[in-house]
Amino acid sequence: MKGKFITFEGIDGSGKSTQLRALEKTLRARGTDVVITREPGGTALGRHLRAAFLETKEKVAPMAELLSFAADRAQHVEHLIKPSIAAGTTVISDRYADATYAYQGARNGIARRQVNQVIRLATGGLKPDLTLFFDIPVEEAIRRMALRRRSHAKKNRMDEETAEFYTRVRRSYLRIARREPKRFVVIDAHRSVGEIQADVVKVITKFIK
Ligand code: TMP
Repeated sequence: MKGKFITFEGIDGSGKSTQLRALEKTLRARGTDVVITREPGGTALGRHLRAAFLETKEKVAPMAELLSFAADRAQHVEHLIKPSIAAGTTVISDRYADATYAYQGARNGIARRQVNQVIRLATGGLKPDLTLFFDIPVEEAIRRMALRRRSHAKKNRMDEETAEFYTRVRRSYLRIARREPKRFVVIDAHRSVGEIQADVVKVITKFIK
């Protein structure tokens, strides 16, 4: 039987990566065989692309940005995601194609149609079976990003976006939620880490059992 393909999505500062780390611990403790991965950076090539793309100081053309994420994804799909699900293993990825739809779709100068075309090329049509969207108000996300920056975390290009940009990104995610309510589960991420974690474990356990 094929493994399930699950993705975590959210605007920066939504807490999704913290949640994925906690979920990984829970699943490993139960002996569940699972591949935890991320985009960008789920493969060796992807890690180079991630560093090059997120750390460059130069202005990046919107099309170059779109194609960089696509190159990372094509490698990820071909060499990690597809072989793992074919072998019957569940794959959980911190971000996937919905991030391109939401983020690159929110950039000026790129037509939605082109974004969708590139997504199709990079994924070969592979869609997640389930997506958890960690939803928080943009102001709260920005507050958390500022805290994170002050505490230590490495800055990247995307940390410099405006509230207006993140509002567009969040709206795009919510549009997917309306269009694909079965696949796209909205998690209220404006609560305590423990409360959110309990929800995540419940949803995932039900889905992969
Ligand atoms: P991360 O911090 O969740 O690892 O994501 C890195 C940044 O890259 C984040 O700001 C979202 C952005 N991103 C896109 O703009 N498009 C994409 O397709 C992906 C996967 C990430």
